[in-house]
Amino acid sequence: MNGAAVRSESTTHVTIVLIGPPAAGKTRVGKRLAKRLGLPFVDTDAVVVSQHGPIPAIFAELGEPHFRRLERAAVAEALTGPGVVSVGGGAVLDPDTQSDLAGASVVLLTVRPEAIAARIANSKRPLVSDLESWKRLVAQRADLYSSLADYTADTSSRPIETIVEEIAHWIDTTRASGRDTEEGQR
Ligand code: S3P
Repeated sequence: MNGAAVRSESTTHVTIVLIGPPAAGKTRVGKRLAKRLGLPFVDTDAVVVSQHGPIPAIFAELGEPHFRRLERAAVAEALTGPGVVSVGGGAVLDPDTQSDLAGASVVLLTVRPEAIAARIANSKRPLVSDLESWKRLVAQRADLYSSLADYTADTSSRPIETIVEEIAHWIDTTRASGRDTEEGQR
């Protein structure tokens, strides 16, 4: 692989959504995966920030429920098109988002607590002040994350290229087998 975008018939119409805990690497992996597959990339936190300003200020001035409404609007819009979509760690708490994910390829990125300390040092995330708050948040959501995921990849220690290739391989394989099934039904 020379790093150039590879777009195949099988990935053109797919929406791949990266979910998972804060600091699991959703944005970094999503960007690279989109490039690898030749698809557009949307980070819904970035959309909210570009439209409404910094997330900590939204939480502080307008509260979490308000942030969740803005987030839901950004997610709903992002899920209308083909592409790779990275959503904030709490986006999947929204029931409408949970329903929408049924039509997408959902990849859960996991990460071990030992790997997270450096990533959340100086974190500006309103709900994550330290490792303990991160662990609590993840424990509350772990079952939900797993129930929504079609594929899980751990980002604790492997190079990002390896993680991206693994997910791209899964996408290519599932799309190819879906095509085979459709052709088999004709
Ligand atoms: C949140 C995660 C953040 C951001 C907001 C709330 C959460 O995104 O959406 O601070 O509830 O887990 P990341 O998962 O990208 O850190």
